[in-house]
Amino acid sequence: MSWHRKRRHKADAGTDTRTDTRSGGQQRGQERSGQHAGQRTGQRARRNEKNAVIPYAVFIGMPGSGKTRIGREVANLLGIRFYDSDEEIERIEDMRIAEIFETRGEAEFRAVECDVIAGFVRADRAYRSRSQSSDTSSRTRHSQRPPRIPRSHIHFEGILSLGGGAPMNAQTQENLRHYARMGGQVIYLNAEPEEAIEHATRSGTRPLLKHNPHKVWMDLYDQRHETYAQLATFTLPTHGKTPRQAANTVIDVLDESIIHVSGASPEYDVHIGINTMQHLPDLLGDPSSKDGAVRVALIHTESVQRHSDKARAILRRTGYEVTEIVIPDAEEGKTLRVVSDVWDQLGELGFTRSDAIVGLGGGAATDVAGFIAATWLRGIRYVNCPTSLLAMVDASTGGKTGINTEAGKNLVGSFYTPVGVLADVDTLRTLSPRIFTEGLGEVVKAGFISDQSILRIIEKHADMLRTLDPAHITDEQMNIIIELISRSVRVKERHVSTDLKEKGLREFLNYGHTLGHAIEKMEHFTWRHGEAVAVGMIYAAELAEIHGIVDRDFVDYTRDILESVGLPTTWSTLSEALGPDATDAQMEDFEDRVLEIMHRDKKARGRMLRFVVVDEIGHARRLEDPSEDSVIEALHRLAS
Ligand SMILES: NC(=O)c1ccc[n+]([C@@H]2O[C@H](COP(=O)([O-])OP(=O)(O)OC[C@H]3O[C@@H](n4cnc5c(N)ncnc54)[C@H](O)[C@@H]3O)[C@@H](O)[C@H]2O)c1
Ligand SMILES: [Zn+2]
Repeated sequence: MSWHRKRRHKADAGTDTRTDTRSGGQQRGQERSGQHAGQRTGQRARRNEKNAVIPYAVFIGMPGSGKTRIGREVANLLGIRFYDSDEEIERIEDMRIAEIFETRGEAEFRAVECDVIAGFVRADRAYRSRSQSSDTSSRTRHSQRPPRIPRSHIHFEGILSLGGGAPMNAQTQENLRHYARMGGQVIYLNAEPEEAIEHATRSGTRPLLKHNPHKVWMDLYDQRHETYAQLATFTLPTHGKTPRQAANTVIDVLDESIIHVSGASPEYDVHIGINTMQHLPDLLGDPSSKDGAVRVALIHTESVQRHSDKARAILRRTGYEVTEIVIPDAEEGKTLRVVSDVWDQLGELGFTRSDAIVGLGGGAATDVAGFIAATWLRGIRYVNCPTSLLAMVDASTGGKTGINTEAGKNLVGSFYTPVGVLADVDTLRTLSPRIFTEGLGEVVKAGFISDQSILRIIEKHADMLRTLDPAHITDEQMNIIIELISRSVRVKERHVSTDLKEKGLREFLNYGHTLGHAIEKMEHFTWRHGEAVAVGMIYAAELAEIHGIVDRDFVDYTRDILESVGLPTTWSTLSEALGPDATDAQMEDFEDRVLEIMHRDKKARGRMLRFVVVDEIGHARRLEDPSEDSVIEALHRLAS
């Protein structure tokens, strides 16, 4: 269960670029395989009468909060239609809203309103109204059992703004939840009261605000705020923002790629895009409500201080008490001592189950922060904010948390599900080129085991990826990077969701890792993980070729694609130990050490070695108990 949405091309804003949709993850994902993000611009969604059309976003909020102004601005910028539920009602009933209130009463108005909104947001109704256009008995339809609409049959079109009171209707609430489950965005514009009251009373057409508008508005706000916040997939505080600024923030949200991780309990979303950190309050809950987090421990390394400042500002603005906890960098932070220090700090702060932890940084920081969240009071709310490419494509999804011990890496840990993962791609801009490139190792791996279009995208953009300066990523480059991250996360999600624990499909994620781990160990972790996995994939390909599973072209292709993005394809220590100048004793000693480590790797069972191999691009399988001769022969083939 996963889907994603096309990114906006900022340069194209104002033209009709939003006809492709996130729901195309499966169906149109196949149609456009072989294309890169940029080529999808302007492509029209294929329509047929089986498709359900629902809005990209539904705006909710108090009267005067800017639903119409900002909604229209978003629609204009994207070149799509804007609908207002009040206007639709007036059009259908051929009567002003105030008149409907006066002549037919509020209850009747709410019934009509509910029905009109359902026509927009219920995928099953939109589906029917297109497939059975003669059926006009819409008012009773939502009480019938809805047909199941495959996500791939849902298309997004237009923006809808709702009247302020609409979300208070129980049926509309149910419809909006259904809409959000289908991938729709419910955007709550949370305005500053004075501003909103000023706006709301200006036109003089709102029947509820005729008398004593200030008090009425505040009373309504008290009644509605919590419901709005609960229904929202994104809450936007509009204070201090021009409509254009607010619209751009909303567009960033609409442009996000969202991967739903369904095998976890509870299920959660991975948000990938510009500024996704702004979802922190949505994930943590309203601090003023009984379910919301109150205090947040923001655990991060110094290397991402700038991004942590951004997270802290977002959290403070929403009213959380934020404590920053800076941990040592990289593997230095993944120790029991660090965990114990943080436990002490949480104890001093009196952290309770209603508080939360946000882990921000590379995979090491998020592994340890997740482990702390898993263990404090047997588990408190946790949000994972990965900031390295590797952490985004790999470490953030799958629920593994953990620390290292004297005996080895990642030996102590726990499966723990975050309430969400926010991969804010802006954070990539401070990465060093080497750490960025290493992350591509896992991206290529995801391509080989499950998604060949990842490899197509890489082939096409190899030069750009190899020479990329993270500090100067252009919009177009970012679109491609987001596409690669989204596809890789989707691969990971598919492999962990069917099987959350270490068996079955999950094992395929270890493609290239058996030798990769041995390289890391023998090089005393001076190699980056993604670099070691790159050479490990060449090894797995050579082994597969020896066993007749793939041909030489496959091995050459593996080497070429890794080299094309600047990943290593040779292992100099091995080349020396097994090269022409090496003695037999040196060779044997080296072979023994590599084999010994591979045997000890947790993926080996008993004395039997097992490897993950790829038999064709996009498809992995196991290779169990290959002969020792073949394992050694494959090693020799790595010597340059
Ligand atoms: N939980 C899982 O499923 C899983 C999966 C894969 C890897 N991991 C773990 O992840 C770790 C590797 O992740 P990694 O490659 O991100 O390593 P890392 O966390 O050590 O980060 C690499 C370096 O980049 C820095 N960095 C990270 N983001 C930055 C940014 N935006 N700007 C500037 N510097 C930044 C870090 O401070 C660090 O120095 C390992 O500990 C590994 O065990 C976990
Ligand atoms: Zn890995």
